[in-house]
Amino acid sequence: MYLKPRPLRFEKNWRHSFSRQLLPCGLLLRIALSVHTPLAVARSDAHPQNDGNSFVGSQVCAGCHVEIAAAHKQSDHARTLRRVEELDELLQANSLKFHYKSNDVEYRIEKSSKPEYLLDLVAVKGQLTDRLHLSWGFGSGRRGVTFVGKTDRGGYGQSLVSWYQKLNALDITTGLDRSVSDATDALADGLTPAKRVECFSCHVTRAPETLPEVIDNSIAGIQCERCHGPGEAHVKAIRAGASQTGSKIGNLGSLRAREQIRFCGACHGEPPGESDLTALSEIIAHHTTVRFPPKRLVLSRCFDESDGRLKCTTCHDPHSVLPTSLSAFDVKCLACHSSKSGRFSACPVSRQDCVSCHMPREKLMMHSDFADHWIRKVRTP
Ligand code: HEC
Ligand code: HEC
Ligand code: HEC
Ligand code: HEC
Ligand code: HEC
Ligand code: HEC
Ligand code: HEC
Repeated sequence: MYLKPRPLRFEKNWRHSFSRQLLPCGLLLRIALSVHTPLAVARSDAHPQNDGNSFVGSQVCAGCHVEIAAAHKQSDHARTLRRVEELDELLQANSLKFHYKSNDVEYRIEKSSKPEYLLDLVAVKGQLTDRLHLSWGFGSGRRGVTFVGKTDRGGYGQSLVSWYQKLNALDITTGLDRSVSDATDALADGLTPAKRVECFSCHVTRAPETLPEVIDNSIAGIQCERCHGPGEAHVKAIRAGASQTGSKIGNLGSLRAREQIRFCGACHGEPPGESDLTALSEIIAHHTTVRFPPKRLVLSRCFDESDGRLKCTTCHDPHSVLPTSLSAFDVKCLACHSSKSGRFSACPVSRQDCVSCHMPREKLMMHSDFADHWIRKVRTP
């Protein structure tokens, strides 16, 4: 079934097969390479299996789970893959022109030269101009949006420039800063069929092998059934009068801490095996692993010494966006660390804004930083 924890992989040619992958998440893969950990990247096999049960789509779930569905619709999970037509932030951006000095390339986004697309990314270098016809935006927009589209030669590519919220403008895609030979080279990195499937696999609900033109909104982004599994049997059971909890649907609330961390880790970076000391020390040695909460969280004493009480959902609602204020997390920490409960130690320094000192943000990439999930005494103010 889809919840079965997958074994860590030690495949020999894994490194080889991804070593040329570079994009925002290519950086993610590169980090994995440089750390030599047996990190398993989520692929299509991490997708829920059909098992004779069918997918019904989030719309159907929304009919009964009204509040969860309303929250989820706005979440970064749901919005992580959107058609270019739906990228409001892009369509309202200040400037869709960008000159990249180091390579002397002029970029702009403008109305597509083809009727079946809305927008093209255009690169001009010297006398040459080339276009990528944009179909999808990767990224909810909380940080950045990277485009995937098609060239006039028929291949798929991911754009060398991305849109960044902090700038409200275009800039070079993180991890893809390199020197380019001409306009075509400056436009995009080619996606072979295997790379394309890989790329979509953590950003769609199922069937990442579907051609980008054919992927529809019901499977774009991380919808209900990506996490809970196909829902047809559940809906039938409920409609037939079933009332006992968990009727034929993945009840993720019952996952134990380590199982849940691995579950989220299929996309957010798999945690090391419990007794894999080599992997643990590699994670400690490489601060770039901060991008992968599951890998870092398991290093924390909070995780290690709380008898399985600390998991991702202790602090996060997977159906919602992150809270806007960091102090919203205080109550989570204080559930264990208040002097009243007396169970675990209390902070001698402060009663609030715990995360600002104990989970500091690290800048890993040009326009993005990440909270370090290795909770510890890190920063003395
Ligand atoms: C199928 C892959 C996948 C799985 C499984 C998954 N995530 Fe995510 N998650 C993503 C992607 C992709 C994003 C980036 C969204 C974006 O574009 O900003 C994300 C973003 C997030 C964020 C940031 C949200 C925000 O508001 O910016 C949190 C927190 C998060 N995930 C927690 C979890 C937890 C907890 C679980 C397990 C219950 C989980 N995720 C499982 C793929 C996944
Ligand atoms: C192993 C699963 C996985 C794969 C494969 C993957 N992503 Fe992601 N992606 C994530 C997760 C998880 C996040 C959110 C956390 C983060 O940013 O690290 C994310 C976030 C993003 C973001 C928004 C964050 C940002 O940095 O602006 C973009 C854009 C993105 N991915 C593009 C891509 C592209 C393009 C590919 C294909 C080259 C790809 N991803 C492949 C899991 C994946
Ligand atoms: C016809 C109404 C209806 C629809 C449609 C529906 N559900 Fe439910 N669901 C319920 C009810 C009622 C319960 C509580 C009883 C139970 O747990 O079986 C429930 C329980 C759940 C639970 C909790 C299980 C547990 O063990 O506590 C999950 C998860 C869930 N639904 C997910 C989904 C998803 C995902 C979809 C869409 C694929 C969906 N539901 C569609 C009515 C519905
Ligand atoms: C990123 C993975 C993910 C996605 C996407 C997701 N869920 Fe969940 N869901 C979870 C997890 C994890 C839990 C268990 C939460 C806990 O342990 O507190 C859960 C719990 C639930 C529950 C039972 C607990 C409750 O809060 O009532 C229902 C019902 C549910 N989800 C429905 C949905 C529906 C409907 C959607 C789509 C609109 C959806 N989920 C999308 C991960 C996800
Ligand atoms: C599920 C319970 C639990 C939660 C929630 C929790 N912790 Fe902990 N934490 C522990 C335990 C257990 C220890 C180790 C024993 C002790 O300190 O009493 C610990 C240790 C620590 C330490 C000392 C680490 C060291 O290196 O010595 C810090 C700092 C800390 N926690 C901060 C936090 C912060 C900040 C949060 C919220 C973001 C948090 N904890 C959430 C259980 C928890
Ligand atoms: C003790 C509380 C706590 C736990 C447990 C926790 N997180 Fe977080 N997480 C945070 C905080 C705090 C932030 C930063 C929020 C912000 O900046 O708004 C964060 C941010 C994130 C982000 C957004 C990326 C970033 O750094 O801005 C992702 C993705 C994420 N967490 C995933 C996970 C996953 C997956 C797990 C389980 C392995 C997990 N978290 C467990 C507290 C926690
Ligand atoms: C201004 C920065 C700062 C803030 C904010 C902060 N802490 Fe601390 N915390 C520290 C420092 C520094 C230490 C180490 C003190 C020492 O070792 O003498 C510490 C120690 C701890 C410890 C270990 C105590 C022990 O006896 O080993 C825990 C647990 C802890 N903090 C939890 C929290 C929680 C929970 C919050 C929010 C309610 C919080 N901290 C807010 C800086 C901070």
